[in-house]
Amino acid sequence: MATERTHSGPYKRAVRIYSRYERFWHWSQALLIAILAFSGFGLHGTHSLMSFETAVGVHTIAAIVLIVLWIFTTFWHFTTGQWRQYLPQRAGLFDVIRFYAYGILMGSPHPYHKTLRRKQNALQSLAYLTFMVIIGPALWSTGIVYLAYPLWSDLVTGQWFFVLVVFVHTAAAFLMVTFVVIHVYMTTTGKTLTHYIKTMITGYETVELSEIEEKYLEETQPDMIR
Ligand code: HEM
Repeated sequence: MATERTHSGPYKRAVRIYSRYERFWHWSQALLIAILAFSGFGLHGTHSLMSFETAVGVHTIAAIVLIVLWIFTTFWHFTTGQWRQYLPQRAGLFDVIRFYAYGILMGSPHPYHKTLRRKQNALQSLAYLTFMVIIGPALWSTGIVYLAYPLWSDLVTGQWFFVLVVFVHTAAAFLMVTFVVIHVYMTTTGKTLTHYIKTMITGYETVELSEIEEKYLEETQPDMIR
């Protein structure tokens, strides 16, 4: 649907900012991380809702599926250029931190406005970058070493290496759970409690478009704009 433009400044339109693949990997990653946390803390002994053998089997299969998903998704990020969304930026970082520290409690407006080129605010980019370059790699690297235990157990004298691997894996698992809790809380701070969740389901969000971006999308990808 074309909209009459009454001024030449940024214009707000509902744009599909999350493609089908992006939504697919987001929700399947969320499901796999939930399964891994549940089975991992089951075999760690935090709960006894699953037998040890079942927990090991479920954890191993889910871990392999998640690693395959991460490989495809890394490839997708580089082929689509979407990796640029995660580049850290200082501009606006402290405004966003101030907003979440106290502005949000006083009803201040969110200082960040999504654009097509930058879907995330500076704090979000920093959090996702930490997830992708620290927490994720710490889990899959130690997890793979843990899986390969029978291959290296005879080569290392004593238990120190095994203890180190388990320690780093468990510490990263706690960081992952912390990340998920904060992330889920953040998803409830939109216009309504479920606004951001709906965006990740439908893909559509209201963003500011320049006149050129609006015309370009209307002509080349009309299904991306509502
Ligand atoms: C991404 C790839 C991952 C791989 C390859 C992996 C692999 C493994 C392996 C092989 C074990 C030991 C199983 C056994 O005792 O036989 C393990 C344990 C564990 N994993 Fe993972 N895992 C991954 C991700 C995760 C995630 C995302 C979490 C939680 C958010 C997690 C939490 C745990 C916990 C808490 C343990 C128990 C540590 C212990 O006390 O021994 N893992 N993992």
